[in-house]
Amino acid sequence: MIPYGRHYIDEADVAAVVAVLRHGALTQGPRIAEFEEAVARYVGAKYAVAVSSGTAALHLACLAANVGLGDNVITSPNTFVATANCALYVGAKPQFADIDAETLNLDPQCLAAKCKELKKIRAIIPVHFAGLPCDMPSIRAIADRHGSVVIEDAAHALGARYPDGTRVGNCAYSHMTAFSFHPVKAIAAGEGGMITTNDEKLYRRLLRLRSHGINKGTDPLIRQEDAYEQGEVKRWYHEMQEIGFNYRITDIQSALALSQLQKLEKFIERRLKLALAYDDAFAGLSKAHPTQITGRRFSAHHLYVLQIDFDSLGLSRAKFMSALREEGIGTQVHYIPVVSHPYYRSLGHKPDSFPVAQKYYRQALSIPLYYALTDSEQAHVIASIRRLVQ
Ligand SMILES: Cc1ncc(COP(=O)(O)O)c(C=O)c1O
Repeated sequence: MIPYGRHYIDEADVAAVVAVLRHGALTQGPRIAEFEEAVARYVGAKYAVAVSSGTAALHLACLAANVGLGDNVITSPNTFVATANCALYVGAKPQFADIDAETLNLDPQCLAAKCKELKKIRAIIPVHFAGLPCDMPSIRAIADRHGSVVIEDAAHALGARYPDGTRVGNCAYSHMTAFSFHPVKAIAAGEGGMITTNDEKLYRRLLRLRSHGINKGTDPLIRQEDAYEQGEVKRWYHEMQEIGFNYRITDIQSALALSQLQKLEKFIERRLKLALAYDDAFAGLSKAHPTQITGRRFSAHHLYVLQIDFDSLGLSRAKFMSALREEGIGTQVHYIPVVSHPYYRSLGHKPDSFPVAQKYYRQALSIPLYYALTDSEQAHVIASIRRLVQ
């Protein structure tokens, strides 16, 4: 079976994990800081905080930015539910603006209109869908006009570049960026996430929030009279200063992710090559169209999405997917618009208010794209899809 996405593990990854198991601290050892420093250096941000998942990264980013009760948080409907859920976790109101039909990312014009309608917007969470960076200069300009915090959801976009050539995660256009290291993502940690930022205050707060809200004396302590003995903070002393979580990542996960990071450029290069080959193979078809082709130079290519006109093909998407499955090919749909999920409908969101996202969703199909996909496997995918759509 050829899946739509798959991680790639080599002997160096296995050795890195085994080394921790044999010699290391399983958690809270040196690998975590090494992983944070390596990602911060790679993306060009001052600070990075590793956490247990991409979802935890988004949740903590909202908390650190003081997003709270009743605040409006605008994001894209074309994303995994975790992006919007993080607003709900902090008592805020998730709001949505439609996507652009070509980039499949937040459409700055729709975002500006939504901001005008809502007036007060605490945070905007653009999602770099499938690894293609959003139009961040436009989004940041809109956010600044409304005094909103910008948190990039870069779960798909480790290694992607903005049009100015710098890497997603450097926070040149945002206050914080969240990454995911779930196995189908650019690099795998098993589960894992990271927040990058250039703001020291946010960084220090994120560190505390990921570990129960506890300050061990690295930040100013509140009960000085309890904390100090002969001018030094007592070795065992710590204060829980606000409510936090256990969102820590382990050394085992960080060792794996660090080893994976060595291969990231190779992974991205191969994904680009495969995406360009798909673009060529599907060019000129009347009932299937590649997406995001103008962004190839910038994308991290987490996914390769085809838009297929199932209605005019006279074949439902479910039947199309089953036919490919019989050929040993796995596919997936990214995403059911967040606003279409029963929970979000129950909050009053209406899928029809996002016609571009709806139209995109009806025709979307993610086909296999991952580092280890061989040329001959890709040729089989191409031939099978071309046969079905012609
Ligand atoms: C766009 C997006 N945001 C956030 C997440 C959450 O990441 P994680 O699975 O690491 O919690 C995902 C994961 O699929 C995602 O695709």
